[in-house]
Amino acid sequence: MHSFAHHNHSAAGNAQDSETHGLVLKEGWRYDLHGWLMDTFRFRSQAHRLKRRAVALANVRPGERALDVGCGTGTLALDVQRRVGATGRVVGIDPGAQQIARARSKAARRHLPAEFQVGVIERLAFPDQTFDVVFSTLMMHHLSDTLKRQGLAEVARVLKRGGRLVIADFTRKQDRQGRAARFHAGGSSIQDLVALVKDAGFEHLDTEEAPPLRFSAFPGAGIISARKR
Ligand SMILES: C[S@@+](CC[C@H](N)C(=O)[O-])C[C@H]1O[C@@H](n2cnc3c(N)ncnc32)[C@H](O)[C@@H]1O
Repeated sequence: MHSFAHHNHSAAGNAQDSETHGLVLKEGWRYDLHGWLMDTFRFRSQAHRLKRRAVALANVRPGERALDVGCGTGTLALDVQRRVGATGRVVGIDPGAQQIARARSKAARRHLPAEFQVGVIERLAFPDQTFDVVFSTLMMHHLSDTLKRQGLAEVARVLKRGGRLVIADFTRKQDRQGRAARFHAGGSSIQDLVALVKDAGFEHLDTEEAPPLRFSAFPGAGIISARKR
């Protein structure tokens, strides 16, 4: 069971940090610790549920190739690697060199072959039509609309025809104030993100929304899944 409201849109239609205008995180293991504390005690595990739901919606199969853009410390990519198995391929990219170093050491400790590279969504270093699935979780709100457009065009380029895209992110609410408003400045409403995803050449869009929770700092989030035309 999950708490997401579901909508269907298909009828309507040690390296260096990589340069980006997005907000790059540099915390490595501190990101994992802080993220766990924040999610467990302030978000009541909603971020964890959101990512688990994103992986379930992608329905990855053994042997598939998957990319996680803005992979952070690689937790989701490692989960996906277990699902695609030894015949599949999983790559995570992130501009934060410390995030990538941490992701690589987690993969090594778990004996998983997932690859992690420093890179940015707006310039993906992969040939056209490389991947069956692309994930982006809690990353899009780091980007301006211009970067979102560039990044989604790159995602469409590296996905195979019919390939799946799953985006999970916080949603922007107009009434936030102060720190919350600054943190979510790059966040889009689910409708705005749907429009950007359609413009980038995707169809069969589905969305699910997890509203803000009472007695929790969880700001509300959404998931978009779509297929490349
Ligand atoms: C809040 S973290 C989310 C990490 C991970 N996806 C997760 O769900 O835990 C956002 C990540 O996006 C990365 N990021 C920022 N700008 C980016 C860009 N232009 N391309 C790819 N990743 C970017 C940051 O470095 C950071 O690691």
